[in-house]
Amino acid sequence: MTLAPGSDFEIELRPTETPLPDEQRVRQMADPGFGRYFTDNMVTISWSAERGWHDAQLHPYRPLELDPAVMTLHYGQAIFEGLKAYRRVDDSLALFRPWENASRFQRSAARMAMPPLPEAAFMGSIEALVKQDQAWVPQNREQALYLRPFMIATDVGLGVRPSSTYLYMLIASPAGAYFPRGLAPVSVWLSEEYTRAAPGGTGEAKCAGNYAASLVAQAQAAEQDCDQVVWLDAVEHRWAEEMGGMNLYFVYGSGPNAKLVTPSLTGTLLPGVTRDSLLTLAKDLGYSVEQGRISTDEWQAGNANGTITEVFACGTAAVITPVAQVKRLGAEWMIGDGEIGPVSRRLRDALLDIQHGEAPDSHGWVHQIT
Ligand SMILES: Cc1ncc(COP(=O)(O)O)c(C=O)c1O
Repeated sequence: MTLAPGSDFEIELRPTETPLPDEQRVRQMADPGFGRYFTDNMVTISWSAERGWHDAQLHPYRPLELDPAVMTLHYGQAIFEGLKAYRRVDDSLALFRPWENASRFQRSAARMAMPPLPEAAFMGSIEALVKQDQAWVPQNREQALYLRPFMIATDVGLGVRPSSTYLYMLIASPAGAYFPRGLAPVSVWLSEEYTRAAPGGTGEAKCAGNYAASLVAQAQAAEQDCDQVVWLDAVEHRWAEEMGGMNLYFVYGSGPNAKLVTPSLTGTLLPGVTRDSLLTLAKDLGYSVEQGRISTDEWQAGNANGTITEVFACGTAAVITPVAQVKRLGAEWMIGDGEIGPVSRRLRDALLDIQHGEAPDSHGWVHQIT
């Protein structure tokens, strides 16, 4: 066993002896897209009821061999996280609030009757992989190394029950713009037919099934010529909750008097790390911020009477993405002039400045790796 340098979690380091040749890696990283290419190595950690977490290993990125009756394939005990490693202006590598992802991963596990991965193991796996594959962390401010921790149930059998064995894995992928058109504002379809999450359901958990269930609504949005779906609450079908895999913010008014409102965490929304960070950052920049409820009718009326000036979605993958056009059954409207608004732009720059080391980290959000 080798101790991964800088971590207090024991992980055996057995990296590949044949990393991708530099010139091929550089070619992939020149236009990485999102989630298309993967780094040379990965981490796995096993769990069993008898042994708890064991056999932590960093080893070459490779396919899994799974029995066809493995439980995750049938009943979907599968959770994941998403965070990024940033190359900062001083060339050091850092993570942004990774302990929030560690804790959300534990909450997702609890909801899906899976064992919680200790924070030291989560952090240790990430530090080991980012250090090992640091050549894959891009330089560019609009790019980063996207990290995908995930866990699956590995018992073999078709009885519906929680598995008694699990596999945690971590893979990494150089990432550019999440949306193909980069920072260009997106159009959204208000889905009054499908819902993402109901009270008592799994909306707060980052479990694979939530995303499978979203695909048909996303396809419906595309049929309506929209880029993304906006989820409404499951009871009244009128309160805006999230956009695709991102949280939403509404900007009222403009200039220093602008007020931001983001839908409250009612138990059906995913509590985003970016959403939470913006609650603080917006205040730092002098805006007032509230968590509340925005109905689709208020959205439409606020847009018509000019009180709502900007709307954006936020998340780790795409940072801040402006929403420019909204469609619902029987109505559609434009927000602003179809470009990113000044408040959205300011918040986006402020967040990227902290992540890339161009502004002080006054809230202790940055976790330095090198
Ligand atoms: C459904 C959903 N909402 C919101 C978010 C944004 O969360 P975060 O800011 O932590 O990336 C994500 C991404 O994880 C998501 O999948």
